[in-house]
Amino acid sequence: MYRPPQRIKYKPDPGRSPTVFEAKISRLFSPISYANLQLAQRTWVPAMVPWRASEDGFVTDDILDWYERMARGKPGALVVEATGIRDIPSGPLLRIGDDRYIPGLKELAELVRDASEGQTRLFIQLIDFLTIRRRPDRAKFINRFLKVTRKLEKHLKCEHLSEDEIRKKLQTFSDDELQTVLPPREYESLSRGYRERVTDTHLPHIRDLPRVLPGLFAAAAKRAQHAGIDGVELHYAHAYTMASFLSARNRRDDGYGGSREHRVRLPLEVYRQVREVVGEDYVVGCRYLSDECIESGSGVNDAAYFGLEFARAGMDFVSVSRGGKFEDAAQPKPGWAAYPYTGQSGYECMPSWVSDERGPFGRNFQSVAAIRKSIRDAGLKTPVIVAGGIHGFVQAETALQTGVADIIAAARQSLADPDWFLKLRLGRGDEINVCEYTNSCEGLDQKHKQVTCKLWDRTLLDEPGVKLSRDGRRRLVAPAWKP
Ligand SMILES: Cc1cc2nc3c(=O)[nH]c(=O)nc-3n(C[C@H](O)[C@H](O)[C@H](O)COP(=O)(O)O)c2cc1C
Ligand code: SF4
Repeated sequence: MYRPPQRIKYKPDPGRSPTVFEAKISRLFSPISYANLQLAQRTWVPAMVPWRASEDGFVTDDILDWYERMARGKPGALVVEATGIRDIPSGPLLRIGDDRYIPGLKELAELVRDASEGQTRLFIQLIDFLTIRRRPDRAKFINRFLKVTRKLEKHLKCEHLSEDEIRKKLQTFSDDELQTVLPPREYESLSRGYRERVTDTHLPHIRDLPRVLPGLFAAAAKRAQHAGIDGVELHYAHAYTMASFLSARNRRDDGYGGSREHRVRLPLEVYRQVREVVGEDYVVGCRYLSDECIESGSGVNDAAYFGLEFARAGMDFVSVSRGGKFEDAAQPKPGWAAYPYTGQSGYECMPSWVSDERGPFGRNFQSVAAIRKSIRDAGLKTPVIVAGGIHGFVQAETALQTGVADIIAAARQSLADPDWFLKLRLGRGDEINVCEYTNSCEGLDQKHKQVTCKLWDRTLLDEPGVKLSRDGRRRLVAPAWKP
């Protein structure tokens, strides 16, 4: 896990909590209404993958428990975790790539409506991702997967040797030697695991993404609508397919890469097809990055341009994250896949308590304010949502009052205390469990273990009916809080 070299330690300080009256007149707890987005308050729980879907992508009882618990805190909006739009095996991650997923999602939508007493709008994040494989065993890779091409034979001056002999020879090379002789992508596959990119246009299925994705997203959005979910969030952020189209590293030469205008083309085409299918009255927005936070990646000027394009196209909201890329991820151990939150860009996405001079709290504010300004300067009122280290009323309210954003999203603070927005609203802020930003939850996510929070996962384990994690050591949802 990346840590800024300054190693400055920050203790979260939520500051003063509001009285009931202060909460009542605050912007945070005031409604927002724009196009199809109608929220009772400007509080938002963004997508978080809890690793609880079934192996074939269905809603499970554990998923229902997770969202029900979040909904009891009655946030203005709750976004269901990144949910795959394709009907392909992807482990215990939710899927929406076929109609058979609709009944489970319907049950989820009904449960959230009941648990929040109708106060929370439920959205679902729709994701597409490309193939990524685990880092292979070195010997196995050289013996089985490495392509021994004429070019490699020539490079090694081994044209006289058989393929088997070349493989044997390569087994004797050090990692540094392999790095100099293997083509960069082969060396990457060996040292980090194979990973597809949107620029691999020599692969037919990658070349075809612009033709295929609008339909896949649109069909998924229609299923969400059938399931009674209130809206969809198109996942254009972090390390996944759509973010890679927006990336300044996208050099595709088919009209979908290169200039900003070309990079935003597919995200807009996806949006338009989704809109066509779900109609004018359904909530459709996206999550994207204010800054990729990688070398030669898109920065805030690109993001301001993209935000304006999304707003002009008619999106009901734009939710803004930052970083979280594969490009600077740490090298995984053999047998593990790269995890996009281990490098510096990952730090920017989920900043932890050990930080630099800027600290982990509200690191995204400045960039999001610039995006919002570009939208407002064009005369558009599309709501902008900010996330990143938000855990206090004054911090959230100031961000709203000073025009950073229109809605406040808190992921880890809502995991640490799913009732925290409600406690603030009821003038009981002193009862909030404040997130420590030590990222134990992120560590669980990285290992694909059921995500819980260390502040509550060992408490009241003997409570009647409490469900435990697979290792039997942690409770799966926060203990109940009685307002
Ligand atoms: C366990 C975990 C899972 C996450 N899963 C997603 C996800 O599915 N989609 C997404 O856009 N962001 C995901 N995130 C990122 C959060 O939505 C959020 O942007 C990030 O944690 C920063 O906000 P925070 O400081 O309020 O936690 C995840 C974060 C955590 C901790
Ligand atoms: S484990 Fe809990 S306290 Fe730690 S960062 Fe995650 S949500 Fe916050």
